[in-house]
Amino acid sequence: MKRDKATVPRQDEDPGAMKKRIIVLASGRGSNFQAILDALSKGSIQGTCVRLISDVPGCYATDRAKYSGVPVTVVDYRSFPSKETYEKALLFAMQECRPDLVVLAGYMRILGRDIVRSFHGKIMNIHPALLPSFPGLHAQRQAIGYGVKVAGCTVHFVDEMMDSGPIILQKCVPVLPDDDEDLLSERILHEEHRCYPYAVKLFCDGRLKIEGRIVRVL
Ligand code: GAR
Repeated sequence: MKRDKATVPRQDEDPGAMKKRIIVLASGRGSNFQAILDALSKGSIQGTCVRLISDVPGCYATDRAKYSGVPVTVVDYRSFPSKETYEKALLFAMQECRPDLVVLAGYMRILGRDIVRSFHGKIMNIHPALLPSFPGLHAQRQAIGYGVKVAGCTVHFVDEMMDSGPIILQKCVPVLPDDDEDLLSERILHEEHRCYPYAVKLFCDGRLKIEGRIVRVL
């Protein structure tokens, strides 16, 4: 049947209907969040950021969300009597968004087991080191202290252990003789801002397949 221009597109013809629902969790400055927002607004990722969730009221990531018209939920860690009650509230806030993908962008807490299980294979993190080297806090400081000549960043799926899930992408940068933690962090961050939106794009295009520890890029 011929359909005129005024006809409302069917779900499967509506490009908006194909977009993945993305939520971002952030605790701080949010420069990776911004890199993803920029890629979304350029149309290079088939997705929509439906919400920013932060555990830190007033962090700069929440300002970035407001400037971009992304709704914000603050689940203030300090206002809960225990990690369990915080995690329960966080899980509820996440489930309400019905996300296809959860992006940790400088979210500085370890997600609890219930959350990781609820969104299995759908949570991504970026870490400023070439995992499995230097997990945890101050990865760049650890790299300088160890004397490595190459550092970098890793985008990975999140599992129940810290910084240990299947690796999606890694980028390396040199460690130069006069580097301090700030200089190295800046060089790595530059790569993070390229890597993370690309990993999100691959996910939204359905090009990431997890096979055990291995992530195949289709
Ligand atoms: C980034 O360097 C990110 O890799 C790191 O925190 C920074 C957040 O910066 N994340 C971790 O260390 C997680 N283990 P941003 O808030 O400007 O995106």
